[in-house]
Amino acid sequence: MSVKILSITLLLISMCVCCHSEDTRDRGPGSTPPCCVDVTQDNVSADVVGETYREQAARHHCVKAIIFNTKNGKQLCADPDAQWVKDLTANMRKV
Ligand SMILES: *[C@@H]1O[C@H](CO)[C@@H](O)[C@H](O)[C@H]1NC(C)=O
Repeated sequence: MSVKILSITLLLISMCVCCHSEDTRDRGPGSTPPCCVDVTQDNVSADVVGETYREQAARHHCVKAIIFNTKNGKQLCADPDAQWVKDLTANMRKV
């Protein structure tokens, strides 16, 4: 019984690790430019800096996304259909 639960738990953990390592390979430093494989729908406009944004088309495992720059120097993948994203990009310049 408990062995069964343990093996299921281990299976779930290994699935998580698998997904995460795939994530870092896509976004990590390397020859390929970073690409959004996921977008946020949350309104994080308070963290967005700069007056430019980038648009990413869906390609392979990359999803359609708006890429903003954030305060901590990172890039943020946002849902192009989210209202806060539309509000922000209306006042920004696409690069
Ligand atoms: C998102 O958050 C900003 C700043 O907190 C706010 O000004 C804006 O109205 C919000 N937009 C939406 C669609 O909730």
